[in-house]
Amino acid sequence: MTTAFVSPDIRFKPGARQPDGPAFWPRLLRGDVFRQNAADFLEANARQFGDLVHFETLGIRVLQFNHPTLVQEMLVRDAPHHHRNMVMQRSKMVLGEGLLTSEEPLHMRQRRMAAPAFHRQRIAAYGEVITHFTRQMTSQWQDGATVDVHAEMLLLALRIVGKTLFDTNVEQEVGKIAAAVEAFMGFMPLAFLPFPDLMVKLPLPAMRRIRDGRAGLDELIYRMIRERRADPADRGDLLSMLLAAVDEEAPTKAPAAKMTDQQVRDECLTVLLAGHETTANALSFALRLLAGHPEIQEQLAAESYDVLGDRLATAEDYTRLNMAEKVFAEALRLYPPVWVTARTAAETYEYRGISIARGTILVAPQYAVHRDPRWWPNPDRFDPERFTAAAKAARPRGAYFPFGAGNRQCIGEGLAWMEGVLALATIARHWQLLPLQGGMGPIPIAPSISLRPQGAVPLQVRRRALH
Ligand code: HEM
Repeated sequence: MTTAFVSPDIRFKPGARQPDGPAFWPRLLRGDVFRQNAADFLEANARQFGDLVHFETLGIRVLQFNHPTLVQEMLVRDAPHHHRNMVMQRSKMVLGEGLLTSEEPLHMRQRRMAAPAFHRQRIAAYGEVITHFTRQMTSQWQDGATVDVHAEMLLLALRIVGKTLFDTNVEQEVGKIAAAVEAFMGFMPLAFLPFPDLMVKLPLPAMRRIRDGRAGLDELIYRMIRERRADPADRGDLLSMLLAAVDEEAPTKAPAAKMTDQQVRDECLTVLLAGHETTANALSFALRLLAGHPEIQEQLAAESYDVLGDRLATAEDYTRLNMAEKVFAEALRLYPPVWVTARTAAETYEYRGISIARGTILVAPQYAVHRDPRWWPNPDRFDPERFTAAAKAARPRGAYFPFGAGNRQCIGEGLAWMEGVLALATIARHWQLLPLQGGMGPIPIAPSISLRPQGAVPLQVRRRALH
């Protein structure tokens, strides 16, 4: 039977008149709800129910888009019908009206003003910051020691974002930021629950830590803003750019065309959170995958040796570090730090012959689409050769979207690639990564606000000879 929403290349459950999907109560009774993590649940839906899946969980209606064409339609074409999702809306109470949480038209204005801070030349200048901090970190490693690379990558990404955002590399300051960010991250799981604004006020130690984390970050950021306003010389960091940014399209070039302190604070906090854990998780997964695939690791080490010799990598090396780029791309495919992109329908609208009701949650799951065997044969295999220019051109748009798409596509994407590629090349040039005893099974994942490895990622590190 064909229905209005079926088109030849798009797969629906045979015979369905409406998108079909899993029923909540049987899943609850069987205990699946507790056994399966959310990323695996969405992947199982895609395999079982096809390219458009509908399900309801405790009264919340969800529509899941699993085909590249549908993903593009949801994220790009139909974006004007959507709002930010519930988690982002609730996060406003801590992130304010930054790029991640704000709605149009404020979002476009802020995006225009923040864009120069992420321009190619600006990112190129951060290349040396990335390799400097990577070398500094790995020079502390002991030959043959076991290192929790996830903890290391979190600290590395924080140091890099601390330097590129605030031009700070004062160890004490970085330590303070790390502690405050960690406490603050405790808020994010609350955003999935009702009334997070009330919960965070509860007199519990966990809530106090979150409040203290927020207060600490606010104090730090406002102090830096005050110092910079007093001495507005360009320090080459994102904060200088945000403070100097002028909205060229504003009706007047009066003060309203610049960001207020509160807006600069919101954007700084947003970039700090959006740019730190995502990149650290991607690097941790990449290193763990390399440890399990020695032949690929050797190819990467050989490339790093050929391109870098004994010097530090710079942004100019990026285009020659092809293997590093392919490894990072493949890690982002298998373990996308943003594992699902969600929106809320702001109005009721027609979509391929069905009616999407206002309030429906729309999800495009990177984790499931990146593992669809139609675009990714043998999807669980780690194979960086999927990212040669020819292979990339042969795949449909929307089959790979670790950085999202459309008007909310990641503004830090260029910086993330630079960080991933230069850090991987720098590490592989000097260190060999080995799995611990017991081999390397699939990597246990913990999908929360981002997709992170479950627990520590301990690997043995061996120093490579400098030739
Ligand atoms: C591997 C690393 C990263 C991944 C996988 C990633 C992924 C994403 C994705 C998928 C979105 C879109 C979310 C949506 O559509 O709802 C996004 C947005 C965003 N990202 Fe990233 N990101 C990464 C690194 C960074 C970095 C390094 C920065 C900044 C330094 C950054 C800043 C942002 C901001 C500000 C937004 C909001 C953009 C907007 O709505 O206009 N991200 N990121």
